[in-house]
Amino acid sequence: MGIKNIVGLIGWPVSHSVSPGMQNRAFLELGCHDWLYVPMPVATSPNSRIKEAVLGLRALGIVGANVTVPHKEAVLPYLDDLSDMAKAIGAVNTIAIDNEGRLIGHNTDGLGFISDLVEHDVDPKGMQVVVLGAGGSARAITYALLSHGCQNITILNRTKSKANDIAFSFRDSFKNAIIKTDTLAAIKDTPSADLIINTTSIGLKSTGDQMPVDKDVHFTKSQIVYDLIYNPKMTTFLKHAAKDGARTINGLGMLVHQGALAFAIWTKQKAPVAAMKEAALAAL
Ligand code: ATR
Repeated sequence: MGIKNIVGLIGWPVSHSVSPGMQNRAFLELGCHDWLYVPMPVATSPNSRIKEAVLGLRALGIVGANVTVPHKEAVLPYLDDLSDMAKAIGAVNTIAIDNEGRLIGHNTDGLGFISDLVEHDVDPKGMQVVVLGAGGSARAITYALLSHGCQNITILNRTKSKANDIAFSFRDSFKNAIIKTDTLAAIKDTPSADLIINTTSIGLKSTGDQMPVDKDVHFTKSQIVYDLIYNPKMTTFLKHAAKDGARTINGLGMLVHQGALAFAIWTKQKAPVAAMKEAALAAL
C-alpha cells in the first residue's frame, strides 16, 4: 500500500528527535500503513523560511505536522485558525490540515503534561505548584494546570518579568487562582510546595551538571519533583531531589502524551500510548 498521509516535524534541529520513531510506531501499531511521519528541518533566522514551510504544507498535501523549538510561536501568523488552548498559550506544537486545506493550530504540550501526571496518579488540583522557568513550556503547563483546576501556582524565573507576563495573561481568566512570581532563588520561600516542575533548559546534556536551583535547596519525601527534560533520564536536579527522598518524574511521559494527543488529532483515533513510549525509549 502506498503512502497517502504524510505528517511532518517542523523544527531546528530535528535530526535527533524521537518523534518520528514514536509516531511511525503508532501508525504501525494501528495498521495505518499509508501514514508516514518525517522530519522537516526548517532553519532559524536570519534565513528562516518558516512562512514558506507552513504554507508549503497545504501546497504539498501534507495532512499534519508537529512544530518544535524554535518555531512554536513563529508559525502562528500563517495558520487559518487556532484551538482555544493554542490561542491561550500563544504557541502551537501541532498543525492539522482539514479537507478544505485550512491550517489549524493546536497545542498539546500542556494537556500532555496533565495526562502524564494522571498516569502517575498525581492530581494537581489542590496542590501548591512551583513552575521553574517562564518560556513556552512554562506557559503551556501553567495554562493547563489552571484549566485543570489548580489554584496555587508560583512561577520562578531568572528573568522575573517573563514570569510576570505569564501571570498577567492568565489572571483574568482564572480569577480564583493565586499566581505568584519571583526569581529562581525564591524557591527557598516555597517549602510547602507539593509539586515542583523544571521547565528551564538547565539539565540538558549541554548544560553539564547545573541545576535550576542552588544545591543548598532541599526537598522532602512528600514532594514531587518533575523535570521536563528526558535526556538525560535523570538530570542533576532530579538526582538531587531523589537524594532528599522526593518522588521524581522526568519528561518522557509528557513527550509521549503530547505526541499521543497530536496523533489523535490527525488520525481521529486513540493513540497506542504504551507502544509510543516503548518506541520513544528505544529512540533515545
Ligand atoms: P521552552 O520553549 O522549552 O520553554 P524557552 O521559551 O527558550 O524554551 O525558555 C527557556 C527557559 O529556560 C526560560 O525560562 C529561561 O530563563 P529566561 O527567561 O531568564 O531566559 C530558562 N533558562 C535557560 N537558560 C537558563 C540559565 N542558564 N539559567 C536560568 N534560566 C535559564
